[in-house]
Amino acid sequence: MSVNPSQNLQTSAGKGSTSKLPRHVAFIMDGNGRWATARGLARTEGHRKGLEALRRTIRHAGRIGIEVVTIYSFSSENWNRPKTEVSFLMGLLRRFVQRDLSELHEANVRIRIIGGRSDLEPGILALLAEAEDLTKNNTGLTLVVAFNYGARAEMARAAQNLARKVLAGELSPEAISEEAMSGELDTSGLPDPDLIIRTSGEMRLSNFLLWQAAYSEFYFCDEHWPDFDEAAFDKAISCFGNRERRYGGLDAKAI
Ligand code: IPE
Ligand code: IPE
Ligand code: MG
Repeated sequence: MSVNPSQNLQTSAGKGSTSKLPRHVAFIMDGNGRWATARGLARTEGHRKGLEALRRTIRHAGRIGIEVVTIYSFSSENWNRPKTEVSFLMGLLRRFVQRDLSELHEANVRIRIIGGRSDLEPGILALLAEAEDLTKNNTGLTLVVAFNYGARAEMARAAQNLARKVLAGELSPEAISEEAMSGELDTSGLPDPDLIIRTSGEMRLSNFLLWQAAYSEFYFCDEHWPDFDEAAFDKAISCFGNRERRYGGLDAKAI
């Protein structure tokens, strides 16, 4: 996989300027099942195709110079799906790590996993740890894989950690600041997502990055995830470039 962050932005989206490029883009990769059903295929075929879209997306993100890509690969609520679909998705994750890890490593991609780690199969846990460990010193694109991820559970875990520190006398309740909270989340040390893209027409977060999305820009498109390609990505980046982020203040022109 050729992911080359040094080949900085020259897409139609950026119109030659790097100023409005998001640092961190997070994806809610939705619509695999609908993509397959519309073609008379099993839902699992949609997931298989979705993996190709993911590879395309990572490559393109590296090419245009995005620093961090987060992908929602499996939510803590996705366990509620039929057993056959869940085990297919677990198998797909295994295959992704087994087949793509060396290429991602060669492409200087750093992998971070976020989400709950308890109750996961030891085999999966070992693979995830291997991916993080092998790539931890890489300096290119950071790929954050949200697996068994739910934002409310993540925040509850962070609150538990802070409470433990207070109990141990390491922290006063007054020292529980926004920074302290951010520092206990799975995403500690990562920038918040500038842009959150959800495919397939649904307009909700589905328990994704609730804390981190405080000032994210949202982009919803109708394409099902397996159809998401470079042009669709460029379109989202271009749309982001035209947004004005005010963070509660005023536009510079208005002051
Ligand atoms: C997204 O596609 C992939 C996962 C949630 C793992 P879906 O499987 O949710 O596809 P739809 O939304 O049912 O079409
Ligand atoms: C969100 O999609 C989770 C992932 C993309 C992994 P879902 O398809 O699970 O979300 P809902 O059920 O439509 O809210
Ligand atoms: Mg869905």
